[in-house]
Amino acid sequence: MERRGFNSSFGMLMAAVGSAVGLGNIWRFPYIVGTNGGGAFLLVYISILVFIGLPILISEMVIGRRARSDSVDSFKKLAPGKKRYISGLISVIASFLILGFYSVVAGWSLEYLIKSITNQFSGSSPQVIETMFTSFTSSPIKPIVWTFVFLFVTIFIVKSGVASGVEKVSKFAIPVLFFIVLVLGIRGLTLEGGMDGLRFLFYPDFSNFTMEGFLAALGHSFFTLSLGVGIMITYGSYAKDDENIGKSSLLISICDTTIALIAGIAIFTSVFTFGLNPGEGPGLVFVTLPNVFPLMPGGYLFGVAFFLLLALAALTSTISLLETLTAFGIDSMNLSRNKAAIGIGVCAFVVSIISSLSLGDTFSIQIGGLSFFDFVDKLTSNYMLTIASFIEIIFLGWFYKREYLKDELTNHGKIKASFFKVYYFMLKYVVPIAMVLIILSSFGILKSA
Ligand code: PFF
Repeated sequence: MERRGFNSSFGMLMAAVGSAVGLGNIWRFPYIVGTNGGGAFLLVYISILVFIGLPILISEMVIGRRARSDSVDSFKKLAPGKKRYISGLISVIASFLILGFYSVVAGWSLEYLIKSITNQFSGSSPQVIETMFTSFTSSPIKPIVWTFVFLFVTIFIVKSGVASGVEKVSKFAIPVLFFIVLVLGIRGLTLEGGMDGLRFLFYPDFSNFTMEGFLAALGHSFFTLSLGVGIMITYGSYAKDDENIGKSSLLISICDTTIALIAGIAIFTSVFTFGLNPGEGPGLVFVTLPNVFPLMPGGYLFGVAFFLLLALAALTSTISLLETLTAFGIDSMNLSRNKAAIGIGVCAFVVSIISSLSLGDTFSIQIGGLSFFDFVDKLTSNYMLTIASFIEIIFLGWFYKREYLKDELTNHGKIKASFFKVYYFMLKYVVPIAMVLIILSSFGILKSA
């Protein structure tokens, strides 16, 4: 049977960028930068992205297109009779857990979309806007209703198929998102505190940067590029034979980083203008930006557009998570697309309910002193994604034939892959060593000076 896939190279790029660009860029990245020393974190983060994230992204695409299957079955095909698919299984569990807590925040963006449509931010003081956020996220019912709506739409799109669902939505959402973020970034630069915001974001002050920052940078680089969750393996499996994987991976990373940086600029310029705390944490986007819009000419429309697009960015990412899980359901469990998408979507909703409730007082589950929500976030992005990716690259760099990799990256000799030598060196030596060092230091085994 012909495997369904993307219709065009642009469509595949937009779908992959759609997966990469999400709440991670607009909601998570700025607050991680904020709590980990600004520019110092940024420097480490971008180095990790180039030297570790990009080679892994290329590798995942190669695995998927070579095997043309889901994230578990691909390893069974490339390494028959071996247990390499264990990384695929970790990925599947991680993507399921991420879908659970991620949809909750995606649901918040819908609530905020309605709040901006009904003009609830205008005239409210920063304190009122802050209380609005905490009382909403800790309330037992409303966030869960929005999460349900969000997952419902996600399931509907994934059910519609790769080209007519995933690709179609991404081709529309990503260009529009880019435009809006750009406008907000430019507007931020014209604000009074613009320079202070830029200094915070770009000036590397290492006195504020801890070993924990390393792990956060590593974890986020995986999270933002959607690595270690099998998504890029799945999307690679839908790529056309003549897709230039090296080039597409580079473009995906550039688009992802650019959007995160512009979002960071938009946010920190306003944080400093209004004297808010840059280390605010998860509330940064939902507390800070609603303060900015009423001050802009046409701010009402920008506010509405921003939260609509935040929701769209989240949507293209939840789609990618559910698509990966659905591909696993289809390829590894022989389910129909409908059954897989609906069944897995409903199970993820249960995780969402627990995550959402853990932020309030009604029914709060705590693990190791963290709310269930924070626990799942940390467990997946700091550990599971890293471990799954580590197993993947050890397999590809040390146990898979170099010629096969080259063959895939050159489209069987049809295109040049001049970066191959550098990529292979990174894959085999630099990435594993860097990852081991960072993981050891994160467990406190390697002490910083
Ligand atoms: N990469 C997306 C983001 O940065 O928001 C979301 C994401 C999708 C994260 C899938 C992790 C993941 F497994």
